[in-house]
Amino acid sequence: MEIKLDRKSPAPLYLQIRNQIRRLILSRRLQAGSRLPPERELAGALGVNRSTVVNAYRELEADGLIESYVGRGTTVKFIPPGEEGQETDLAVQTPVWKSFYSRQAARMFNPIISNILDLVNREDIISLAVGLPSNEFYPLKEFNSIMSGLICEKGRYVFGHGPTAGHYPLREYLAGFLKERGVETMPDNSMVLSGSQQGLDLAAKVFLEPGDALVVEEPSYMGALQVFAAAGARILGVPLDEEGLRVDILEQILSRYHPKFIYTLPTFQNPSGITMSILRRRELLKLAYRFHVPILEDDPYSELYYEGERMPSLKSMDNHGYVIYLSTFSKMLFPGLRLGWVAAPPVLAGQLVMTKQLDDFHVNSLSQWAVNEFCRRGLLEKHLMRVREEYAVKRDLMQASLEELAPPGFRWNRPAGGYHFWCKLPEGVKAGALLARTIEKKAAFVPSDAFFANGGGTNRLRLSFSRYPGELIREGVRRIFEALGEMFCPGEMSGEVLTRQEVRPLV
Ligand SMILES: Cc1ncc(COP(=O)(O)O)c(C=O)c1O
Repeated sequence: MEIKLDRKSPAPLYLQIRNQIRRLILSRRLQAGSRLPPERELAGALGVNRSTVVNAYRELEADGLIESYVGRGTTVKFIPPGEEGQETDLAVQTPVWKSFYSRQAARMFNPIISNILDLVNREDIISLAVGLPSNEFYPLKEFNSIMSGLICEKGRYVFGHGPTAGHYPLREYLAGFLKERGVETMPDNSMVLSGSQQGLDLAAKVFLEPGDALVVEEPSYMGALQVFAAAGARILGVPLDEEGLRVDILEQILSRYHPKFIYTLPTFQNPSGITMSILRRRELLKLAYRFHVPILEDDPYSELYYEGERMPSLKSMDNHGYVIYLSTFSKMLFPGLRLGWVAAPPVLAGQLVMTKQLDDFHVNSLSQWAVNEFCRRGLLEKHLMRVREEYAVKRDLMQASLEELAPPGFRWNRPAGGYHFWCKLPEGVKAGALLARTIEKKAAFVPSDAFFANGGGTNRLRLSFSRYPGELIREGVRRIFEALGEMFCPGEMSGEVLTRQEVRPLV
């Protein structure tokens, strides 16, 4: 097999190798079943790195021209008669799309969120992976009447463009909503977002250059970790204990790495369910002031408390304008309208608007008008009162299912709010392997590695209880444990709930 490389050509070496082998296969000069040289051997013969040959072989495999088997090496696949005619078209190669990608695109490789969302409407799978509101609680009647009223009376506005920062009456409502929760902010400092996920993306665009450091909790929300990784940031994880972010470790990190910001979920943290104590919040703010580091507070769950009272946000405790506050209607109400918001210090609010205008001009107008109307009629507060009770029942049902069905060595945190149980598998069981078996049993959860930016956390999982009626919660848990039972031989340990102290080793 003769391959000639042109080192002056702008075409990458791996593509030159791929194209020449492709030509040999399609012209049948390399027959089906013939073996290609091992990667190392070909790399040596051509004077290139082994990874160059690996990439060329990967492309050929993706083209359906070769196949690799452990032990048998790489062989040419059978090309059906007729396809060899493509040889005449070889001067025009199909684009190898990856070779055109930006560096940022190459850092977006983890499809876990879209995979989870793909399962959302599958009725044959009980997905305890999705941390979403239950659709049995959607206030459909109210939205039906609000939306049809808006379309009749305000159709010219709700289908037209609106300001990038959002529908002003909704921003006024949000400023009032935050004021009642101790946050002094003006409508002009808040912006409506296409879900708080967009706020994470805007923060990354505004603050992060490749190589910049930022601090996250460990574990942390996977959607944020992916945004920060795509930005090429250096993600520094700080562990949690039962009071939240470990400020002793944070202090060392701040003094050493000068991160751009600290990303934290102080209330009903996703995935651990932990709520940062008031004392810890004060210490965190003090550190932020001392080291001059802004805080990005992500707060989707604080309205969903099932015990005691609502926790004050970091933003409400911040006297020096360091906290950027993100929240969303996705968990309180429903996620499909894609409505979140950010409250930021004035200068930054302007920059965020400028950044958002390049993304999507503004959030869907009808959604904004409808949610504003819903909130202004006092229906959000009413809805929250109802769902707090309903989700507490679901939380207790998951707790009861775990107590009843958990095998020896399986442990979990009982959350006081939010949607998630954070669980630890018996010694030696990997969450990824368990997920593969669980999916065969038509159930799903999120394996813990998704929540760690720098590896670790392979034997934990997140179970969400919010979405299903009680009997399906139990059935989902049962299927996971059935899969687990097939993988794991019970040892001496017995199933148990984590006590407050035992929360520590989990995170
Ligand atoms: C902690 C956290 N932040 C942000 C988001 C994104 O929510 P949204 O639907 O508002 O984009 C989620 C969704 O699961 C979340 O759990």
